[in-house]
Amino acid sequence: MRKKIVAGNWKMNLTLAQGEQLINDILQAGLKLEEGQEVVIATPFPYLAKAKSLLKNYPGFYVAAQNCSSEKSGAYTGEVSAEMLQSVGVDYVIIGHSERREYFQESNAVLAKKVDLALANGIKPIFCCGEPLEIRQAETQNDYVATQLEESLYHLTAEQLKDVVIAYEPIWAIGTGLTASAAQAQDMHAFIRSRIANKFGREAALHVSVLYGGSAKPGNAAELFSNPDVDGGLIGGASLVAADFTAIVQKLA
Ligand code: 13P
Repeated sequence: MRKKIVAGNWKMNLTLAQGEQLINDILQAGLKLEEGQEVVIATPFPYLAKAKSLLKNYPGFYVAAQNCSSEKSGAYTGEVSAEMLQSVGVDYVIIGHSERREYFQESNAVLAKKVDLALANGIKPIFCCGEPLEIRQAETQNDYVATQLEESLYHLTAEQLKDVVIAYEPIWAIGTGLTASAAQAQDMHAFIRSRIANKFGREAALHVSVLYGGSAKPGNAAELFSNPDVDGGLIGGASLVAADFTAIVQKLA
């Protein structure tokens, strides 16, 4: 069966000391992960190696970067390559978060290159998709998300797709307190899975985990996760508070 994942995306928050404290608080909560459940923590680049060493003796806990370069190596000042991430033990990398798409002009084509480099270095992409409010209001969100998937993932083989996690994050729900309803999330997740089935086959579609992101909290996580096509969450704000994050992880059960 496919994995159930709760991933915390710290974004550009916390100092090293605060991040260490948060990870220690999460570990001390004594979460009992069941078979097939994973917790992923996406820290800023400078804390990845430390996060990895804190989590290494905890089965089911993984580290993610929030981005990687679309280039392999070389004269790209300020960039961090997938190979560098691999060298410090990073397991996952978030690719195509809407904040990267919007503020750093990351196109679907650039994201396709990042997906390739992550996979080539043994790092699993958490590929983000999701529509802005005006697209939702025009009821064209399915076409919008389908294009994101086509232009960044459809060049992969079915075998490669097995290492990809998809996160659906409607932009209008990110950091706004507005959550997609359980029905809206389920509809889109089922649609994403149907697109994957169409392109890569039924087995790949049943295997791929599709996470929901956008104002997920302890109070709404159980309802979101109870949907058959919602395989967990990508959590922003609530991942910065150990009690909230661990409460969300417990809702996977
Ligand atoms: P919030 O949970 O703060 O809405 O953020 C969601 C998100 O962008 C996770 O990547």
